[in-house]
Amino acid sequence: MTVEKLFKIFPPFPGVSEARPDHCRTCAVVGNSGNLAGSHYGLLIDHHDTVIRMNRGRTKGYEGDVGTKTTHHVMYPESAIDLDNTTHLVFFGFKMRDMEWLLKSFDLENYNKVNYKRRANKDLVMILNPAFMKYVYEKWLQKKGSYPSTGFMTVILSLVICDEVSVFGFGADSDGNWSHYFERLGNKNFRTGPHPGAYEYELLEKLHKDKKIHFFRGF
Ligand code: C5P
Repeated sequence: MTVEKLFKIFPPFPGVSEARPDHCRTCAVVGNSGNLAGSHYGLLIDHHDTVIRMNRGRTKGYEGDVGTKTTHHVMYPESAIDLDNTTHLVFFGFKMRDMEWLLKSFDLENYNKVNYKRRANKDLVMILNPAFMKYVYEKWLQKKGSYPSTGFMTVILSLVICDEVSVFGFGADSDGNWSHYFERLGNKNFRTGPHPGAYEYELLEKLHKDKKIHFFRGF
């Protein structure tokens, strides 16, 4: 019922660009690690066709290190921000409550009113099948940790929808902390919550070594 309603409002098929022999689809996946601070990756990130950011990741005030372009933004109810009209909201919902939140966030009665503050453009919402999370957890992470991090799922998604994937903003900062480039976290320990952060990092390094992604480790 909820799912049926969802796909009456949001596109049932995502608008991803198809593979073409005459065009390399380049993607930058930008995690939120503090190792982006002082990196000067901004121009490099903006050079990609697709730039995917996540959760509370922002560009204002950090343009030199993280760029200005955002074509896609992955977020959850708990980490939602308002997106501009040209950015795709990528939704890895896995609980019924997530789906209900999505429905509630788009107040259709007011959607077309001039001064109505939209969360995002509803025609650009991309809802991932929860089976994708299960696939990443079982096949990529060998069931380590409780569930994959948003960032890691986004990297794997990019391997599916892009030809060339560059990864920024993953892993600890230079002090060994799991911090964000836009805030100092109080906790000084390397901490990845329920995610197998160290294992995900190892996999990113392996993908880089095998030339499947370009992994930019930050500063
Ligand atoms: O912290 P947050 O979940 O908003 O960060 C988005 C993603 O960036 C995480 O899911 C994780 O994959 C990655 N990240 C990281 N190292 C950090 C912070 C975030 O790898 N220090």
